[in-house]
Amino acid sequence: MFHIDEAEINQIRENADIVEIVSSYLPLTQKGKNYFGVCPFHNDHSPSMSVSREKGIYKCFSCGATGNVFKFVSDYENISFAESVKRVAEKIGMTLKSTIEIKTEKKNQEELKIMELTSLFFQNNLQTAKGQKAKEYLKERSLDDDAIKEFQIGLSIDKNALYELLKKKKVSERMLVNLGLVNQQDLTYHDVFINRIMFPIHNLNGETVGFTGRIYLPNSPSPKYLNSKETVIFKKGNILFNYHRAKESVRIEKKLIITEGNMDAIRMYINGFKNTIALMGTSLTTAQINEIKKLRVPVILMLDNDSAGLIATYQVGSLLEKENINVFVVRLSNEKDPDEYLIKNGPEKMAISLKNAISFLEFKLAYYKQNKNLQDGEDLAKYIKEVLKSIQEEPDPIKKEIMLKKISDEYNFSIDILRQELASIETNIKKDIIPPKEEVPVKRKNKYEIGIYHILYFMMNDAKYIKMYKSKLGFFDNPIYRGIANEIMAYYELHGKISYADFLSYVETSKLKKEIYEVIENVKDEELNETIMEEYLTTVKKVRKEHEIEDLKRKVKNELDINRKIALVSRIQELKKEV
Ligand code: UTP
Ligand code: MN
Repeated sequence: MFHIDEAEINQIRENADIVEIVSSYLPLTQKGKNYFGVCPFHNDHSPSMSVSREKGIYKCFSCGATGNVFKFVSDYENISFAESVKRVAEKIGMTLKSTIEIKTEKKNQEELKIMELTSLFFQNNLQTAKGQKAKEYLKERSLDDDAIKEFQIGLSIDKNALYELLKKKKVSERMLVNLGLVNQQDLTYHDVFINRIMFPIHNLNGETVGFTGRIYLPNSPSPKYLNSKETVIFKKGNILFNYHRAKESVRIEKKLIITEGNMDAIRMYINGFKNTIALMGTSLTTAQINEIKKLRVPVILMLDNDSAGLIATYQVGSLLEKENINVFVVRLSNEKDPDEYLIKNGPEKMAISLKNAISFLEFKLAYYKQNKNLQDGEDLAKYIKEVLKSIQEEPDPIKKEIMLKKISDEYNFSIDILRQELASIETNIKKDIIPPKEEVPVKRKNKYEIGIYHILYFMMNDAKYIKMYKSKLGFFDNPIYRGIANEIMAYYELHGKISYADFLSYVETSKLKKEIYEVIENVKDEELNETIMEEYLTTVKKVRKEHEIEDLKRKVKNELDINRKIALVSRIQELKKEV
């Protein structure tokens, strides 16, 4: 829960110009009263998001994202509502008087505590006599005390050292097994990690959720790295190694470097390239891609210098590019990975390599050339097709043109033929794509719907209209409109008055949201008074009765019992008199 004075929230919202705030994240162009930009909440190129200064709201016509300035900032930056209030206040130069206390109900507290304790235990082992050899190994790999401290590097020792310790701390065996720290064999338990250098793995918030343990003694059992199994808190697909440390530096550097091995990310970090993470595997899950996307910076892929690293570069790069992330590639040529490169060549050379990173498109051109004999007509045709497809995917028209020219020069193809071919690829692709939704004008509403829209609009504007709705109408028979009316009433109970922008963000259901937006957008410059409200209520009530009559008529048709039929008919006549 957070605590910011409601009056203060309102004050900030009123002082913040939503157009200005949204513009600080993405470019907007004015069209009439509203401003338009490319929606950041889904994959898009066309400006489908509209921002209204007057109403203090934004709305994407393609994905339906909508809300007030706080909702925009909190979704864009992936921060809580309270933090977004603070952020908006900062942006408009207001200082927040209320304090923000964020007390979220945290899950898996016990599990996280045990992992923390385990990590401390491992770290301590390294500093004891038993850690002598491991320390030598680390020294040999140029990991000094600072690095050991920063990365909380530790050591697992004898076959049940951790088990004994945690049993003493009253942690149940079941818990230890579930956390992947201990294995059960018949009736005995033993540690999972034995004689390994231990690197804690953190979730995106920086909490220790698992470990990876590297062998360091001669003749140790494989694998080279043993990783924690999947547990309630360790979801490999959600984790990016070193993300929590790299995050801040990514903001400053405006770039994210991705390496393959954890050791690469550590080496990069201690050499000053703190904006580096490592893949936990050679591909990315949707969750991981989304986290990377949220950083909103270009990505430099610097994976291992072997064929697996090459293929992974192509695959990971393609996945990221599909999400409109700007991808660059560094391929090392003499060293096997960034770790080795830095140890051999130092950070200055690394900085140059990073500066010379090639675009993903350029990488693909080289990638497609592999294993092809471009003297051979068939191979060459295949190559050109692959290249043109990549060029087609390039969003920047200038880069597109440069690449076309390059191919045309290199292989002595007429640029017109290449353009023709490119155009045919484009039309083939377009056939498969549903065109993006245009901002269609709202369907003409009938009298009944117009009435309902106005009633809802009135209710949002003044609580006295809620009373009128309750006493004269009681409810709407359409569940969506009824839902909106209920939301309005609930909101009044909480806040006493409604701001459209705030209300829109408050409502959770997207279907209701969409309709509320329509109400706010379509009911314009209406004079609000009780007589007009009365008229709308009467209209809606009348139509509702007409609907009821239609309904009863259907029932009469199907009714076999004569007495019930008569009752239905007389009810119809009553209703007819009323309308
Ligand atoms: P690498 O073998 O490239 O790791 O594997 P590295 O970083 O160069 O390790 P060092 O330098 O030999 O210590 C890349 C990644 O693959 C995973 C790890 O996440 C590692 O960081 N891996 C590798 C395992 O999970 N298990 C293994 O046995 C090997
Ligand atoms: Mn490596």
